[in-house]
Amino acid sequence: MQSMPAGQNKKSPASLTRAPAWRDLAAHRKTWQDRHLRELFAADPQRFERFSAEACGLLLDYSKCLVVPETMDLLLALARERDVEARIADLLAGKRVNTTEKRAAWHTALRAGHAAPREVRSVLTAMRAFAGTLREGALKGVSGRAIRDVISLGIGGSALGPALAADACAADGNTPRVHFVAAPGEPLTRTLASLEPETTLVIIQSKSFSTRETLLNARDVRTWFQAGFAASDYGAHFAAVTANAEAAHAFGVPKERIFPMWDWVGGRYSLWSAVGLPAMIAMGADCFDDMLAGAAAMDAHFAETQPQYNLPVLMALTGVWHANFCGMDSRAVVPYCPGLELLPAWLQQLEMESLGKSVSRKGKSLRHDSGAVLWGGAGTEGQHAYFQMLHQGTRPVPVDFIACCSPRSKSSWGTPRSEADADTHTLLLANCFAQSALLAQGVTTADTTAALLSGGAGEREAARLASHQALPGNRPSNTLLLDALTPRSLGALLALYEHRTFVQSAIWDINAFDQWGVEHGKTLADSLLPEFSSPAATTAHDASTNGLVNYVKRMNPANP
Ligand code: F6P
Repeated sequence: MQSMPAGQNKKSPASLTRAPAWRDLAAHRKTWQDRHLRELFAADPQRFERFSAEACGLLLDYSKCLVVPETMDLLLALARERDVEARIADLLAGKRVNTTEKRAAWHTALRAGHAAPREVRSVLTAMRAFAGTLREGALKGVSGRAIRDVISLGIGGSALGPALAADACAADGNTPRVHFVAAPGEPLTRTLASLEPETTLVIIQSKSFSTRETLLNARDVRTWFQAGFAASDYGAHFAAVTANAEAAHAFGVPKERIFPMWDWVGGRYSLWSAVGLPAMIAMGADCFDDMLAGAAAMDAHFAETQPQYNLPVLMALTGVWHANFCGMDSRAVVPYCPGLELLPAWLQQLEMESLGKSVSRKGKSLRHDSGAVLWGGAGTEGQHAYFQMLHQGTRPVPVDFIACCSPRSKSSWGTPRSEADADTHTLLLANCFAQSALLAQGVTTADTTAALLSGGAGEREAARLASHQALPGNRPSNTLLLDALTPRSLGALLALYEHRTFVQSAIWDINAFDQWGVEHGKTLADSLLPEFSSPAATTAHDASTNGLVNYVKRMNPANP
C-alpha cells in the first residue's frame, strides 16, 4: 500500500473564541437584531441566485439560512483563519488526521478508482466477483442449493451505510434478497423465521470483530445453521468483513470469505470499503461503482473548489453560524425522496459520533459548542409528527430538506415509473418547498386575521385565533436538490455530508475520527452482565444502578 504520509499539519490554531474572525462574527450577530428572512427576501430579489451553488448534479439552496453577504464573508474569513484548506489537503492526502489514534481517515482513497491503493482495488475486485456469483445464483450452499438470501449482521457504521445504499439503489425483486440485522435477539429471530439455512448466507460485518451485539447474532445464526443441516461445514454459509481476520477465522469463517478492512477507515466512513459488500450484492457491482464515482466527483469538487462555491464548506459554515452564533443546538435532516428514509440515521452516527466532542485536538476543554444534535426522518411523515414544533415551537431548528427533481427512475433497475409515481413525486416537491418557505417567511397575525375575517369569522373570533394560527418564521433551512436519486447522486450526497462534517471539525479544532465516548459504555455493560445472574445483591455500583439491577432480579428471580 502507498506509504502513509508523515504526520498532519501540526499547527494547532489558537483558541477559537479569541480568533479575530470569531469575534467579528459575534459582533455581527449583535447587529442582526430583528432582521427577518421575509424582509431579506423582499429586499433582495436575487437572494436565491446569490445564496445557491451547484456541484456534481446537486443544487444547494442556502438562501433560507440566516445570512446576509457580510455573514458569509465573515464565515469565509473564519475558514481561512482556521486553515481549513490546509486541513482538507491533509485529509485527502491520507495524513494522520485522526490525532488520538495516530491514523489517517482515508475514506476518499476507497473511491479513488485507478488511483486507489493497490489493496483497495484488489478488495473491490474480490467484492465484485463474490457479489456477481451471488447475483447469478451460482453460489451454492452445503446442500448444493443456490443462495437466495443474504443476511448482513452489523451495527453502527457496519450497517447504516450499506442499508441506506441498498434501500436507495437496489432494484425491486432482486435476488438474492439482502436483509440487514443490527440489534441482537428478536430482529434476527424475525428475519430467520422466513429463511431456509440451505439457501442463506450470512456476512458478519464488524471492523473490530468484537462488538457484542454482532457477535451475539453471529453465534445465534451459527446455531441456526448447525440445527438446520447436519453438515458441520456451515462455514460455506458465512463471509466476514473485518480488520480482525484472525478472530473471524477463529469463529469459523473460511479465510477466502474474509474481506479485509483497514484501520485508516473509520466505521462511520466505511460504506465505500468492503462494508459496502451487502449493498453491492443488493444493487450490483456496476451501480456500486457508480456510487463510488459519485463520491469521487464530490471529493474532487471539495478539493478543487474555492470555499465560497464549495458545497461542503458552505454547509459547514452556515451550520457553525446557526449552532454557535444563533444558539440552535439541534438540526433536522428531512428527505422528501423515497429511498432516503435511512439517511437521517446514517447522518446521526456520522455527525454525532464525529462532532460530539468537548476537547480540542490538543485535549483542551472547548470554550464553545461543537456538534449539534442531529435528528430527522422522511418528510411526508414528519409533517404529521414534528413539523408543528418546527413551525410554532419556541426553539428554531435548522432543517436540511433533500429532494429530487425527478422521480427515482428505476427503469434501469426494474419497472419504469408510472404516471401515478409522477403525481406522487410532484406532491413531495410541493410539500418540501412549502414547508421550507413557511419556516422562512412565517405567517403574520395580520395575515391570519385577514384570512379569518375573509373566511367569515367575526372580529372577536378572529382576534381570539389570530395568534394561534400565526407562524413566526425566520427559521433557517437548506434545500439540497438532486437531479434524481441514482447510485451516483447518492455517492455525491453522502460524500458531501462526510466533508461537511470534517470542515466543522476543522473549524472547532476537534478530532472527527475517534469515538472514545462509546468505549466506557461497552466496558461497564460487560461488567454488569454477570450481576444479573448472581443471587447476591448487587452493590458494586452507584445506588441507582445497584437498585435497578436488584429490582430486576427481584422481579425475575429465574432470570437466566
Ligand atoms: O459505536 C461505536 C462503534 O465502534 C462505531 O464507531 C462502529 O461503527 C460500530 O461501533 C460497530 O463497530 P464494529 O464495526 O467494530 O463492529
